[in-house]
Amino acid sequence: MAETASLSIILPAFNERDNICTIIESIIDLSLQYKLEIIVVDDDSPDGTSEVVLELARQYSFVRLVRRVGRSGLSSAIKEGLLNACHEYALVMDCDGQHPTSVIKQSISHLRDKGLDLVVGSRFLQGSVINGLTNDRESASTFANFLANKSLSKRYRHLTDYMSGFFAVDLKQAMPIIRSVDVNGFKFLYELLAKSNGALLVGEVPLIFEKRLHGSSKLDIAVAWDFLLSFLHSISLKLIPRRAISFALVGLSGVFVQLFSVFILTNILAYSFQSSLPIAVILAATSNYLINNILTFRFARLNGLKLIKGLTKFLLVSSLPFVANIGLASAYYEHISSNELIAQLLGIIFAFTWNYVASSKFVWNT
Ligand code: GDD
Ligand code: MN
Repeated sequence: MAETASLSIILPAFNERDNICTIIESIIDLSLQYKLEIIVVDDDSPDGTSEVVLELARQYSFVRLVRRVGRSGLSSAIKEGLLNACHEYALVMDCDGQHPTSVIKQSISHLRDKGLDLVVGSRFLQGSVINGLTNDRESASTFANFLANKSLSKRYRHLTDYMSGFFAVDLKQAMPIIRSVDVNGFKFLYELLAKSNGALLVGEVPLIFEKRLHGSSKLDIAVAWDFLLSFLHSISLKLIPRRAISFALVGLSGVFVQLFSVFILTNILAYSFQSSLPIAVILAATSNYLINNILTFRFARLNGLKLIKGLTKFLLVSSLPFVANIGLASAYYEHISSNELIAQLLGIIFAFTWNYVASSKFVWNT
């Protein structure tokens, strides 16, 4: 008879007090079949998730709780769970009832019998059913999967769900890669595949993706933004830092704010173009500042009085390159070459770099 496989089930949890018991109780019987441990990684949920898990840990010795100091996000919770796993195989799944526990055995036997390193529970395979996603979420996942497919190793082109939160790994094979995964945002699996660069043997099993039992999703705009940044970071060959990409995208949104403001001021409020311009520039810079505060620098987010002080600093910081931008572009144009495009690009690159570095340092102190 084959030796009993040993399995660590990782359950990342944030505010899942009403779900965690149901999930753990539905997988407890797996201890009859595997050498089992269940690791809940809780980001110090304010709703008391940890207390519920501790109660279960008193009853079942194989239930473990990793309670973290604050909210560090889903990817980092998954990584922490995997780094703490003691067994041969690990399986990561959501603990809100959206992932079927019935697929666990099949996933592990694929690792064991087919010699795979990683098995992904896919929502988009033949035989998969999606009951628990709104149409918008389903389209967003499909689009994210499309981008992922293009940005990852060719050896992963056959996969259908790079965004899944359900997957099983052979820890011996995957551990060196797991250790190197960047833990930004929600998409641990995508980052794992990106880091492994084709080195893992990966297969899929179909999932029935259900509705959440209780509570609501933690995937918000910031999480979606992180994914977009990861994608752009990887197509920039990791040369441009995620935060600089975020800053640049927000800057781009400011261009539209400025154009729109000038349009309203001149066409509807009948201002002259000259008097509209400074107002529009300040509005665009303020909008950039507020969006950066919510997205790019959210880990150092400013509030209350600091938000107002920060705005003043941001306006000062960004007015300097405005002058330097013109200076540099005209100096290049006059003294080096009369190529207008290069001259302007130089000015823009300089202004962007200054804005990014100086805002990080002086406005958000990071
Ligand atoms: N420790 C910790 N910290 N756990 C978290 C955090 C966090 O910051 N954020 C979310 N979780 C836990 C939740 O408690 C849940 O068990 C699991 O991670 C998934 O979070 P949900 O908020 O339920 O995500 P979802 O249902 O919207 O997203 C699911 O589908 C996505 C694909 O569309 C997840 O499976 C994602 O992983 C998946 O990418
Ligand atoms: Mn969920």
